[in-house]
Amino acid sequence: MKKEMKKILVTGSVGQIGSELTMELRKKYGAENVIATGRKTKPTAELEASGPFYYIDVVKKDSVEEIIKKHDIDTIYHMSALLSAVGEKDPMLCWDVNMNGTINILNLAVQYEMARVIIPSSIAVWGPGTPAIAPQECALKPTTMYGVTKVAGEVLADYYVRKFGLDSRGLRYPGIISSETFPGGGTTDYAVAIYYEAVKNRHYTCFVREDTKLPMMYMPDCLKSTLDLAEADFSTLKHHNDFNVGSMSFTVRELADSIRKYIPEFTINYEPDFRQAIADSWPDAVDDSAARSEWGWTPAWDLDTMTRDMLEKLTEKHKKGLI
Ligand code: SER
Repeated sequence: MKKEMKKILVTGSVGQIGSELTMELRKKYGAENVIATGRKTKPTAELEASGPFYYIDVVKKDSVEEIIKKHDIDTIYHMSALLSAVGEKDPMLCWDVNMNGTINILNLAVQYEMARVIIPSSIAVWGPGTPAIAPQECALKPTTMYGVTKVAGEVLADYYVRKFGLDSRGLRYPGIISSETFPGGGTTDYAVAIYYEAVKNRHYTCFVREDTKLPMMYMPDCLKSTLDLAEADFSTLKHHNDFNVGSMSFTVRELADSIRKYIPEFTINYEPDFRQAIADSWPDAVDDSAARSEWGWTPAWDLDTMTRDMLEKLTEKHKKGLI
């Protein structure tokens, strides 16, 4: 008998998405019912004070199993992963954490008859030659180790749906922009760093060219898409672990222009590095019609509303000396 979604484990809860997702889940399901975990990084005081937190290593199955047993976990949000840029610095570590971590979570979910598992994927599943607007169905030929692990993770999780009847779901997140926790080593990090630097120094040196265009999403939409998919009726889903999910797409030039509407003296220069090739290998935008029709996805934020909110939040933090 499958369990209900009552006791949730979040891996990677100290990360960019995990930290805000944990707080959102705690609001929704009760603080004691959401068990936050991380490998090494200390959680913020807010996260630590808000409910249970443990250090685990998703690569070490026993360390995850201990928490599952202790808290009778029935649902996992598996947010821990190495992103694209750090993954290129240490591809073997990226493989180890992203693949062995994921298969451990899937096997434990089957063993403990979990109600549901959420495993994020990414725009990194695509590679050079993908149409500018990536369709839901097309060849996945990534050129980063991160992308390789995300393609394999999607296919693996879909296998568990078919083979073991596991309810596993996942989204291909675009670059996620947020003001709480800085992302840990992705290619799309420039779209976050630009806001921090605009507030602190009125200037940003960008590591990709100004015409670089990628799909992006603001954190409130990221949380909404994650929870909407997690709560969708399984019987309405034709896809499971590979939903395209779109919100906005812009070039760095357009992003800088949007910031200048609020900070007219903001300046930017460009010093592309190895991350340019990664950005160039990803599509400009995604076709998310499957997410829209299968579970009703609609984004709420656009570039200018996001810019205003980001600048307000970061200016506040800067005044308090927090950034
Ligand atoms: N934000 C991620 C990265 O840049 C993409 O999923 O690696």
